Amino acid sequence: MGNTFGRLFRVTTFGESHGGAVGVVIDGCPPRLSITLEAIQADLDRRRPGQSRITTQRKESDTAQILSGVQNGLSLGTPIAMLVRNEDQRSKDYDELREKYRPSHADFTYDQKYGIRAVEGGGRASARETVGRVAAGAVARAVLTAYGVEIVGWVEQVHQIRGVTDPSTVTRKQVDANIVRCPDSKAAEQMIAHIEEIRKAGDSVGGIVSCVARGVPAGWGEPVFDKLEADLGKGVLSLPACKGFEVGSGFTGVDFTGIEHNDEFFADDERQVSTFSNRSGGIQGGISNGMPIFIRAAFKPTATVMREQRTVTVSHENTTIQGRGRHDPCVLPRAVPMVEAMVALVLADHALLQSAIQMSS
Ligand SMILES: Cc1cc2nc3c(=O)[nH]c(=O)nc-3n(C[C@H](O)[C@H](O)[C@H](O)COP(=O)(O)O)c2cc1C
Repeated sequence: MGNTFGRLFRVTTFGESHGGAVGVVIDGCPPRLSITLEAIQADLDRRRPGQSRITTQRKESDTAQILSGVQNGLSLGTPIAMLVRNEDQRSKDYDELREKYRPSHADFTYDQKYGIRAVEGGGRASARETVGRVAAGAVARAVLTAYGVEIVGWVEQVHQIRGVTDPSTVTRKQVDANIVRCPDSKAAEQMIAHIEEIRKAGDSVGGIVSCVARGVPAGWGEPVFDKLEADLGKGVLSLPACKGFEVGSGFTGVDFTGIEHNDEFFADDERQVSTFSNRSGGIQGGISNGMPIFIRAAFKPTATVMREQRTVTVSHENTTIQGRGRHDPCVLPRAVPMVEAMVALVLADHALLQSAIQMSS
């Protein structure tokens, strides 16, 4: 249960961190869309471990294979299956974990739920599972490109260091100009130095990923339970280590009065409706209003730290555990393509849902 996401653009991910492979099956991708392995691989390379000195040094080439559903660079309308084989499997790093639960990991809860777990690397709870999501996100983007939608995510905050970025103009090129993926170059330098310091201290930090979707037309979203922000929230919060989600002004909206906060409407010369401000984050009543969709996601500090901490054994005796192995001191730079992928999956699903209910279009 719980491994399939979406209604019309439907993805099922599979695989454990140290099993044979991770991947995804997409059902519902429209036919005749341009899908290239290069585009999928480019997204996976942004997610890949070992990509810079501030990510985990675990070595995985993450080479994608398309097994079905695509021929000569075009989608067939049949299920698209994609696979990435796992390469770097150091199971001896994990011997102690058969006996002890790592603090703030999913070891204890998986045992409570299933009575069995894939111990190495966190199994299914590992961020390795998101390979399938990112590959599917690249396909979802092919759907969205047909609608003129563009998605850009970036690191807004690492621990207490905050960058300033204009969501209306930020580009992926600016985001990828540095290894922390923060387009504010001054803040980026501070973030990188801070992550390096934190790594040396055997500690970890979290932060915030922001993401904008530009070009979404008014009308996407299915009230009441499948409101656009509800689906975005579910998709983004299903990412490992994601603990907070906001749309538009989010929690900071409470600092305003209604007069200050409202997004007043105006019509341009072509009677195209926009709003002067965008505190709604492009969504009202669960439906896109044509303004850029703006969301933020908070990621916790990486659970594994190189320090002895208190825990319990699998037979519930008190003990301690020392963090070891290769880990991300801060998950934020690699979380950017994951957030973009989840936003793309939700929007592609809603694009198809909107087409399905408009009989004339
Ligand atoms: C991009 C990314 C990389 C991650 N890398 C690590 C890691 O190296 N070490 C670790 O302990 N947790 C890492 N995590 C987080 C864990 O997978 C996650 O915290 C854990 O499975 C518990 O789930 P929860 O935090 O969602 O409750 C990563 C998460 C993301 C999004």
